[in-house]
Amino acid sequence: MWRLLKRPYIITSAIGLLLGVALMLGAEQLDRFTTTDAFCASSCHSMQTYMANEPTYKKSIHRTTSSGVQPGCADCHVPKGLIAASWSHLIDGSRDLYGELTNDYKKPELWQARRDELAWQVRDKMLADDSRNCRSCHKDKIIKTQRLRAQRQHELAQREKVTCIGCHFNLVHAEVKPRKSFLDKVRIDIQP
Ligand code: HEC
Ligand code: HEC
Ligand code: HEC
Repeated sequence: MWRLLKRPYIITSAIGLLLGVALMLGAEQLDRFTTTDAFCASSCHSMQTYMANEPTYKKSIHRTTSSGVQPGCADCHVPKGLIAASWSHLIDGSRDLYGELTNDYKKPELWQARRDELAWQVRDKMLADDSRNCRSCHKDKIIKTQRLRAQRQHELAQREKVTCIGCHFNLVHAEVKPRKSFLDKVRIDIQP
């Protein structure tokens, strides 16, 4: 045993392994904490006032649930998996923090000016990743809707490979008009 420990590379790898595990556990804790609604919705003024406490959001079907399933901010916004989530916290989180520190979002007109752009970015991201977060709860093949219009639109969606966000934008937050580049990418005529 002692002889083994004298070999520097064994010690180094053991320390490396321990550090690695510690970092993983730390990242997991950090991830768990920073993906709670308590963190997302109260860590800065804009998210609290304009997103979490805003009436459209509070009244949306995703929040006033009849099934007891209530998606939070991170369910729709933070990618799944520890590595992807940590990356998103690091990059998106730093950018959001910078935005919050360098702008006085207590002034609603400043936030409003920024909001459209943010909404467009979120939509583009969901288009690009095929609405992956939506699909973590909704499996399109098994949606059994009674509504004829939804049935027809969902058939069309599967045939034409239109992803969820292509039709279901303005889902939970106050309305933001889609920009032309988004509609062009979705291609089909949406009849909401
Ligand atoms: C059920 C899914 C869902 C939940 C839950 C959700 N969002 Fe969103 N969010 C979206 C979608 C979709 C968009 C893209 C804009 C749109 O079409 O409404 C968006 C856009 C945004 C934007 C861009 C600005 C805007 O107004 O569109 C911000 C910021 C945001 N969300 C923050 C939050 C925060 C904070 C929470 C929790 C309090 C949250 N979201 C909960 C789906 C969700
Ligand atoms: C954490 C799970 C979860 C996620 C993530 C989620 N949803 Fe939902 N969604 C639900 C549940 C549960 C309901 C039904 C609410 C009820 O009646 O209890 C629902 C309802 C809906 C409805 C019907 C109600 C309505 O507002 O018209 C649509 C459309 C919908 N979701 C689309 C989406 C899209 C698009 C996304 C991604 C941006 C998404 N959902 C993300 C769980 C989720
Ligand atoms: C081509 C447009 C289109 C696409 C793409 C689309 N939907 Fe829908 N969806 C609709 C329409 C239209 C309705 C009916 C809405 C209404 O009548 O209020 C609907 C209804 C729903 C409902 C509610 C069903 C009910 O009967 O209450 C859910 C849930 C839903 N969509 C989820 C999704 C998910 C998840 C995706 C992606 C896998 C998706 N949709 C893709 C157009 C679309």
